[in-house]
Amino acid sequence: MSASVTKERPIEQVDESLAAFAADVHADLQKQPRQLQPKYFYDALGSHLFESICHLPWYLITRAERRLLEEHAADMLAPLEDLTTIIELGCGSGAKLALLAEGVRKRARPVLVRLIDISATALDLSERTLGRLPHVSVVGRHEATYDAGLREATQPRPSHGSTLVLFLGSNLGNLRPEVADAFLREVRSALRPGDGFLLGADLVKPEKDLLLAYGDPLGVTAAFNMNLLDRINRELGGDFDLGGFEHQPRWNADASRVESHLVSKRAQTVSVRDADVSVDFAEGESIWTESSYKYTPDNVAEIGAAAGFRRERQWIEPESQFSLTLFVAE
Ligand SMILES: C[S@@+](CC[C@H](N)C(=O)[O-])C[C@H]1O[C@@H](n2cnc3c(N)ncnc32)[C@H](O)[C@@H]1O
Repeated sequence: MSASVTKERPIEQVDESLAAFAADVHADLQKQPRQLQPKYFYDALGSHLFESICHLPWYLITRAERRLLEEHAADMLAPLEDLTTIIELGCGSGAKLALLAEGVRKRARPVLVRLIDISATALDLSERTLGRLPHVSVVGRHEATYDAGLREATQPRPSHGSTLVLFLGSNLGNLRPEVADAFLREVRSALRPGDGFLLGADLVKPEKDLLLAYGDPLGVTAAFNMNLLDRINRELGGDFDLGGFEHQPRWNADASRVESHLVSKRAQTVSVRDADVSVDFAEGESIWTESSYKYTPDNVAEIGAAAGFRRERQWIEPESQFSLTLFVAE
């Protein structure tokens, strides 16, 4: 994807994305336990369902992080000398970047913003949110995965000033620890000394609160999870019977993660034509669709340090136990 602000994706890229989706579904459904990858939640409906989850009283992450950004935006930006560029990984609606950007409202020149998200709908929402603000200017729209998007967004590097990369909403928590570590090293190597990295990470909290956050009584999170099966039916010619599965969040204390599962209610066979796969599910067998790792404040600092960052400052929202950590590249 080019760095220019354009909504049309070339047809070869659409074909490539669909082929990658099919290849992943083919491989992941044959794993034990059976799996699907959370990055595929975010088609247009999935992105809107995620925005609805953010409004649920049981999903504490969004409100907690917003409160921290509202209160501390200026402190978060102060250590970054001559900040010219903000890059957000997995920007969603762009509402959090808009809050942080309040900290640069009084500057003479707008801060340049590059948005990276796998979802075209999320990028549209972000551009709409940020397009109204005079103190930011969206100069890059990267419909891509985090790593590919980061490579595009940082080449070429701006000739002067510092860059801040945002990874908010505990997006990091969807990555297995070894993948998260490797990715943060990539973020570090894309930055120069003095650049910043602001990381939002959800903290360990009582199991009942975590299970409510990922299994709300209104069933919005269940719809978000189930939409992945519907997406496979629509885009890859699958024959999942949505009524034959149920959403189930599980707290895995040993691994410090909430797992989202889709559990088969009966023995059944499912085929996905364009992924060239057919799977026999036993009753009670699940498809593991997402992990959301939960951290301690020290964990977060250690992960950043291992990637070559210095922890500049950390803010904790005490009620919901959510952290924002500003790292600076050394
Ligand atoms: C949990 S939402 C969080 C959105 C936003 N950061 C927030 O805090 O509200 C994750 C966002 O990252 C995007 N996303 C998920 N996996 C991705 C991946 N592997 N590469 C790029 N974007 C991804 C989704 O489309 C979605 O917009």
